[in-house]
Amino acid sequence: MRITTGVPGFDALVDGGIPKDRLYVISGPPGSGKTTFCAQFVTKGAIDGETTLFLTLHETEAELVSDLGNYSFGFDQAVNSGHVKVINAFESEAKRLLSSSSRNSSEFPKSVDNLANQLVAFVESKGVDRLVIDSAMLLEYYFSDDLDALIKFLTKLKRADATVLLISEMTDPTSYTDGHYLAHGVIFMHNYLESGGMTRGIQIIKMRGTKIDCDIRKVEFTDHGLRVDPSEKIQS
Ligand SMILES: Nc1ncnc2c1ncn2[C@@H]1O[C@H](COP(=O)(O)OP(=O)(O)OP(=O)(O)O)[C@@H](O)[C@H]1O
Ligand SMILES: [Mg+2]
Repeated sequence: MRITTGVPGFDALVDGGIPKDRLYVISGPPGSGKTTFCAQFVTKGAIDGETTLFLTLHETEAELVSDLGNYSFGFDQAVNSGHVKVINAFESEAKRLLSSSSRNSSEFPKSVDNLANQLVAFVESKGVDRLVIDSAMLLEYYFSDDLDALIKFLTKLKRADATVLLISEMTDPTSYTDGHYLAHGVIFMHNYLESGGMTRGIQIIKMRGTKIDCDIRKVEFTDHGLRVDPSEKIQS
């Protein structure tokens, strides 16, 4: 079954939607729209009555809501009404929430492996349909002593009964990481300077089981959030 991402124009690049309950990695340079894409994804789920979770390591809930509240796609309303749950992994609420659904741990996760167990338990017990993790780079940074566990973390997430978008920063489109190979799909956001200014684009690198459009397609930041123009190809 395919689900709608909530990013206008995007689904046309992936045969109408992304396969449900799989793990996708969203990569791209700073400011290329990764967080915005994912916020539109959870907001769409919330509008459709799904249970969604945005796990951030970057910002507080207030900062995220304030930044994304500039757009009119409804992230702030979805969060305020409780339909999108935002958890900052390092706030005390995260400790309480994540450990509440985990059988053997009342401790704050001390490793990526532990965090994965708590997160997967949370996803299963609460019936989370859409999950965003922003971002893998920060997971690696905070848990740098336990890098192998990141592979286990992704493997567990792959099996979780939710559609997961994992943001993974990367500036060089050719330096792929383990996460890109493990994931069911990889989406790359482009953001490069040209003589006429900044050009923004999006590209599907892979999506298992799906007929994809691999060209770089134009992305616009509008007042309603990101909008993909599936008919406009960008030359790089
Ligand atoms: N209406 C708007 N409201 C907020 N940001 C906007 C708006 N229009 C354009 N932007 C731009 O969107 C960019 C942020 O995009 P986003 O946060 O999704 O990128 P990102 O890839 O997650 O970046 P990072 O790697 O820094 O986390 C900002 O640089 C901001 O200037
Ligand atoms: Mg971001």
